[in-house]
Amino acid sequence: MCGIVAYIGQQDAYPILISGLRRLEYRGYDSSGVAVLNGDLQVYKKKGKVQDLVDHVGRERVKGNIGIGHTRWATHGKPNDINAHPHVSGNKRLSLIHNGIIENYITLKEALIKLGHTFESETDTEVLTHLIEEIQTRDNLPLDEAVRVSLTKVVGAYAIVVMDSENPDMLVAARKASPLVIGIGKDEFFVASDATPIIEHTKKVVYLNDEEIAVVKRDGTLSIKNIDNKLLTPFVQELNLEIESIEKGDFDTFMLKEIFEQPDSIRDCMRGRINSEEGWIKVGGVEKNLDKFLNARRIVIAACGTSWIAGLIGEYLFEELARISVEVEYASELRYRNPIIDDKDIVIALSQSGETADTLAALTLAKEKKATLYGIVNSVGSSIARLTDTGSYIHAGPEIGVASTKAFTGQITLLTMMAIYLGYEKGRIPRPYYIQLLKELENIPGKVKQILEKDAHIKYIAGEMKDATNALYLGRGYNFPIALEGALKLKEISYIHAEGYPAAEMKHGPIALIDENMPVIVIATNMSAHDKIISNIQEVKARKGKVIAIINEGDTKIKDIADYVIEIPATDEPLTPLLSVIPLQLLSYHIAVMRGCDVDQPRNLAKSVTVE
Ligand code: G6P
Repeated sequence: MCGIVAYIGQQDAYPILISGLRRLEYRGYDSSGVAVLNGDLQVYKKKGKVQDLVDHVGRERVKGNIGIGHTRWATHGKPNDINAHPHVSGNKRLSLIHNGIIENYITLKEALIKLGHTFESETDTEVLTHLIEEIQTRDNLPLDEAVRVSLTKVVGAYAIVVMDSENPDMLVAARKASPLVIGIGKDEFFVASDATPIIEHTKKVVYLNDEEIAVVKRDGTLSIKNIDNKLLTPFVQELNLEIESIEKGDFDTFMLKEIFEQPDSIRDCMRGRINSEEGWIKVGGVEKNLDKFLNARRIVIAACGTSWIAGLIGEYLFEELARISVEVEYASELRYRNPIIDDKDIVIALSQSGETADTLAALTLAKEKKATLYGIVNSVGSSIARLTDTGSYIHAGPEIGVASTKAFTGQITLLTMMAIYLGYEKGRIPRPYYIQLLKELENIPGKVKQILEKDAHIKYIAGEMKDATNALYLGRGYNFPIALEGALKLKEISYIHAEGYPAAEMKHGPIALIDENMPVIVIATNMSAHDKIISNIQEVKARKGKVIAIINEGDTKIKDIADYVIEIPATDEPLTPLLSVIPLQLLSYHIAVMRGCDVDQPRNLAKSVTVE
């Protein structure tokens, strides 16, 4: 949610900032802006995407080798040029970029107005800029100290970078609850919300921790202190990220690339964790805490968006295979209830980014209640990975398309492995079935590949569906959450209203919507519910609905009654979600493209929601 990037060194800052902003655009794209210092402070801001900013700057050459840039997902104030970052202090000396929310900005603003400050924008960020200016001039403080003192007065979340026109050889960066990473080059530094703008310049990085303030200087020095003014030793790490993984390659969009990466990303998630020949499966974080898992009163899964849907599949898996009671909670709801959680519970946070504000807050609450915290995260080193007691990475690689695809299948793969492992350890899964599940899990990447080969057929069906205004997705058992995910994918990228429903619940409401214009996508690959789902299809057909069914290869019963079918390889029932979601991802993708939508950056959404 909002991307920030900054540069200080010997090179021209502007091109570095723009290419960094393009990499970070997935975090928000309501407006963008840059400020570059070259004697004078040059500020350019524009509503819209980074390309709109580039067009606005035009051929004008922005010179200077220190600068800051921002791409915004609007919280306080409309997405327009004025509310775009960077924001500039009243004395025009400081410029600042910010990701997060300053919760007490109204109080601070009122106090600053009394001191004579006037504001141009509606943003909380401009207030912070003026606060730093006020403290810097009032107490005649160096910039880093003015930033530190100001942040002691701030309530909320922030990742900021501040530039001072009177100190053109330094930048000050700070974070609390919003990510920030510093790239270390030769006599140059890069600061960004994540490593993607940095990787092409250097692999040496320092991740800032909460309430830390960093000063980077053109002479190559980096110093970090905390908000209590204690000097800290920077922990320099080597980035384990390749540039190809954050580029589209031969694909038109990141989303399509990520859909097609799933045979590999699922395999990467399983790598070193399963071996059917030798008959073992292990998940490090669970192995180390096996007693806790085996004796847990229950597991609470907290997540948002697509990750929450993966959590629902986790519930089916853990309850059926391991007989552990599970509750799946929207993190945003859990955090504001007074949930009954204690030290006998395990709270699993599912998050692609590891930075989702509500999920982090739910974990913090669970920590206060002494639960064991387990993180299932994609983004290495992220806040959730650091806050949890233990956990597992899904190793899906960077996911850049805003709509989650390969992270979702990674999360399900991991939850499946955990459930099988625990179920076997608890003696709930007999050895032959255990071995069968392991073998079948190893077959999943190959089967995903077979489904991807049906892309042309799925695209054809997308063409038949593209003009719909509503769509209904139905599934039962393991495929009910997949119905939810299919509907979510369609609405977020194609803006067609869609609902996912347990197939049997259709009679209690959605059936009223069905007519000849309503496509109904039925996910019918779990055989235990097969006859029942056939009845549901008949109910839809009786009302002239158009049925698109996802079926197992050779399922003639449904093929005979559905309008369109997508046949996919059969698998063991607990593993069906890993396969049945793939055609739904492609279906949404093609529909969105046919409708002229920007699939990688759907309107109003952001990849990483770091505000509540
Ligand atoms: C946003 C994204 C979704 C994602 C959700 C949760 O809404 O657009 O794709 O599922 O956040 O994000 P997380 O990083 O916690 O999985």
